[in-house]
Amino acid sequence: MRILVTGGSGYIGSHTVLALLEAGHDVVVIDNLANSNQESLRRVGEIAGRSAEFLQVDLLDETALDNAFSSQNVDAVIHFAGLKAVGESVEKPLYYYHNNVGGTLNLLRCMERHDVRTLVFSSSATVYGASEEVPLVEKLPLDAVNPYGRTKEQIEDILSDVGAADERWNIALLRYFNPVGAHESGRIGEDPTGTPNNLLPFVAQVAVGRREKVMVFGNDYPTPDGTGIRDYIHVVDLAAGHLAALDYVHSHSGVHRWNLGTGKGSSVLEVLAAFSAAAGHEVPYEFGPRRPGDAAVSYADPSAALADLGWSAHKTLQQMCDDHWRWQKENPLGYSS
Ligand code: WQD
Repeated sequence: MRILVTGGSGYIGSHTVLALLEAGHDVVVIDNLANSNQESLRRVGEIAGRSAEFLQVDLLDETALDNAFSSQNVDAVIHFAGLKAVGESVEKPLYYYHNNVGGTLNLLRCMERHDVRTLVFSSSATVYGASEEVPLVEKLPLDAVNPYGRTKEQIEDILSDVGAADERWNIALLRYFNPVGAHESGRIGEDPTGTPNNLLPFVAQVAVGRREKVMVFGNDYPTPDGTGIRDYIHVVDLAAGHLAALDYVHSHSGVHRWNLGTGKGSSVLEVLAAFSAAAGHEVPYEFGPRRPGDAAVSYADPSAALADLGWSAHKTLQQMCDDHWRWQKENPLGYSS
């Protein structure tokens, strides 16, 4: 199939573009490069032995978006493009609603005009809010607790309404847990701009000497070692989940939701131990206060994805850290190394 991938030069996008190319699909990426580097796609082409087409398009530019669909014979869309920093979304809610929700509305209306109604949407476990009811299952009520999470929840609601109104739509909503790691080649990986919000890229930058130490946000949680527990999933496993979902919705109409997680939780201290083993030296850290809004424990029940898609995550936390470290060590400054 010919797949249009929005946000395809980003971290999860580039790994998914690679998996699509290796599976024999043709790919066209649209990205505004606001938060990613086109170098990722050049390297994806190197690894895959063939390249995706690239169009620098902002989803808020309806004319450019329409031209992109007119010039490409698209069979389906995987929609990653969006802003995703929780803290920034609290400071700039309008920016987030305009970009994430407004951009998605432009995309959906453009798809409809061009008779393209197969969509895989990059949602997030953040739509479950600070639910302590673990493992998290798809039928749980959604209760996002920050503007970023609410944009994902609202887009899920929009897509549910679109699917209910017109059965020609085939839609997958994929709720990611905590994507980490990198392709085994070490050539593509996570390259956050500015100070990383998430644990793994911060730990990796400390391990490679770009930052002094990791601040552990709270060690008084009701967990075995007192630190927060999350469901870390290897980005390569996550990419495979997109291909499985794409295959499914290609032949099943309606709106479908799946958690993409391992079903296992790991604490911050367990991540630090695994990353230190990967790097071959201790990653310095100290305990600090809890981060507001953080749940103590969050991990997926991934059984629906296994039952419906035949998909499950295979890579271990150690493999995630080994692969993340290889990328960081070989690209200390990310794509601008
Ligand atoms: C993981 C654990 C922190 C940084 C976020 C978003 C969510 C999704 C995934 C997009 C927690 C602890 C972190 C640090 C720390 N993103 N931590 N020191 O918060 O589970 O989820 O990323 O969809 O929307 O909310 O991930 O990596 O920020 O935190 O101790 O410097 O690491 O307290 O327990 P989180 P995270």
